[in-house]
Amino acid sequence: MCGIVGYIGQEEAAPILLDGLRRLEYRGYDSAGLAIFDPKDGLRVVKSKGRIQALADLTQDGTALKGTMGLGHTRWATHGAPSDLNSHPHMSEDGTFAVVHNGIIENYMEIKEFLQSEGIHFASDTDTEVVAQLMEYYYEGNVLDTVVKVLNRIQGAYALGIVCADCPDRIIAARKDSPLILGCGSGFHLLASDVTAIIKHTREVCYLDDGEIAELTADSFWVYDAYLRPVEKERHHVDWEISAAEKGGYEHFMAKEIIEQPKAFRDTVFPRLQEGRVVLDDLQLTPAYLAAMDKIYIIACGSSYHVGVAAKYTLEKLLRKPVEVTLASEFRYCDPIVTEHTLALVISQSGETIDTLAAMREAKALGARVLAVVNVVGSTIAREADDVLYTWAGPEIAVATTKAYSTQLALVYLIGLYCAERLHTLLPEEYAAIVAELKEIPQKLEQILSNREDIQFFASIYFNHPSIFFIGRNIDYAVGLEGSLKLKEISYIHSEAYAAGELKHGTISLIEPGTLVVALAGCGKLFEKTVSNVVEVKSRGADILGLTTVSRAEELAKTVDHTISVPDTHPLLLPTLEVVPMQLFAYYVALHRGCDIDKPRNLAKSVTVE
Ligand code: G6P
Repeated sequence: MCGIVGYIGQEEAAPILLDGLRRLEYRGYDSAGLAIFDPKDGLRVVKSKGRIQALADLTQDGTALKGTMGLGHTRWATHGAPSDLNSHPHMSEDGTFAVVHNGIIENYMEIKEFLQSEGIHFASDTDTEVVAQLMEYYYEGNVLDTVVKVLNRIQGAYALGIVCADCPDRIIAARKDSPLILGCGSGFHLLASDVTAIIKHTREVCYLDDGEIAELTADSFWVYDAYLRPVEKERHHVDWEISAAEKGGYEHFMAKEIIEQPKAFRDTVFPRLQEGRVVLDDLQLTPAYLAAMDKIYIIACGSSYHVGVAAKYTLEKLLRKPVEVTLASEFRYCDPIVTEHTLALVISQSGETIDTLAAMREAKALGARVLAVVNVVGSTIAREADDVLYTWAGPEIAVATTKAYSTQLALVYLIGLYCAERLHTLLPEEYAAIVAELKEIPQKLEQILSNREDIQFFASIYFNHPSIFFIGRNIDYAVGLEGSLKLKEISYIHSEAYAAGELKHGTISLIEPGTLVVALAGCGKLFEKTVSNVVEVKSRGADILGLTTVSRAEELAKTVDHTISVPDTHPLLLPTLEVVPMQLFAYYVALHRGCDIDKPRNLAKSVTVE
């Protein structure tokens, strides 16, 4: 949610931190701040409500702050409204410590009351400030010992960056349930919640694990466990180019990422197709394991959950095994029926979503084997899963996911084919037909993207509608869920998605003359049924934007007001194509409405609080 960056080295820290914060802004963008140690003036904190630009203006792009060590933070508010005072870094009352934090300190109220009873005054409404004040309270001259005492006292989730005015030659970091990465350079070290913030300076990184504490100086770093015993850490090399996380001439990251989908799909799928077969070297699911598997439990949040909904239809069809899909935030508390024969399929772009992570741990504790589909290499979910398959989509920066969704779906097909081959649930010719169609998808995506003017035109007609419904059956319904989410998250138009057959059980009462209904009717065997549902809303005055395949476009056009078509493909692969016009529609509607497309209000890309 929040973004953290820290620097210690020979160069001026503030401009480096500001640049890092700009790259992290998608993690949270209601306020930002810097803490810099100035050899003349000591520890200085500057923070401001609003975007990073407000902080940059306040500090003359960082040049007004002198010093070669510091911390930066971009906030997504949890405790305390977005304001200058609630922005991070937070300082201890005597100014000795400055702290940045991502996560939630759950027992902050009790600690705050205790510290207040000891005469300590608080400046903010945040949970984070208790960490800064506790540091001061426990401090007896040794910062690391103090950190250990503080960590023993706090409960909850945290990635923490801590600096102390008494030892300006080091930054201390600690993590539990929120990501934190160390960047190693020659004569400098960095700290960040995401590699995008530091990739410009170094590609050598080290991922902190839960319970670890790190100490960074300009020339060295050390990692300790919770008892300050040294921990040997492996270094990783990040091999993607910095340009992958830049706009590259596009107006928005979202537009760039929509356009990148053919490539992302190709990168994710093609290396895993060899001689007409799906080869997943990283997956060790034996025929015996799969035969004994009692069910697949798909666990995810947001758009990744929508991939799960599509996956349920796909995997049940391919494997003839029960597939349950559940929201990660519900899974933990629903007393799930999981056995050692259950495969938990955990889907997460970031690999850090706290609900998904917690649900994954719960599934593991209950005996399930965990297969994670993740985009961010080295993320916590990827590291803790039994098996991990990476979507090779490259960094996704826009808050509203697009290429991550497509590539997650792509991996679902590969997993389905891989398991079906071992379970003998698919005839060889069916298997071959799906593999052949997978190879065609990138080129079909390119075709859809090159015809996007139509969708742009429909968006220009409908961008002012107060409420938009999406209907579809089977996997069309799954795509409708994603289309509706995309639209509401970036355009702020109220929108709902319904299984087309369910609409008449209540929601149809909301349809009135002029209501826009987006009808997804790609699913061949259900085409007529969906068209009947379209007629039901049409006869109540709705405007219909229909989406189907080229071969049915003419037929659908007889019933709907406007038709969008995607190339025909294997029925199971349809969502991969259908979702693109939905993403484009949401994008152009939001563009017409003048919305902040890459950073929609109240949202964050990676949700690391429950
Ligand atoms: C946030 C994002 C969504 C995303 C969801 C799950 O809400 O705004 O776009 O789908 O988190 O994220 P994950 O990283 O677990 O896929």
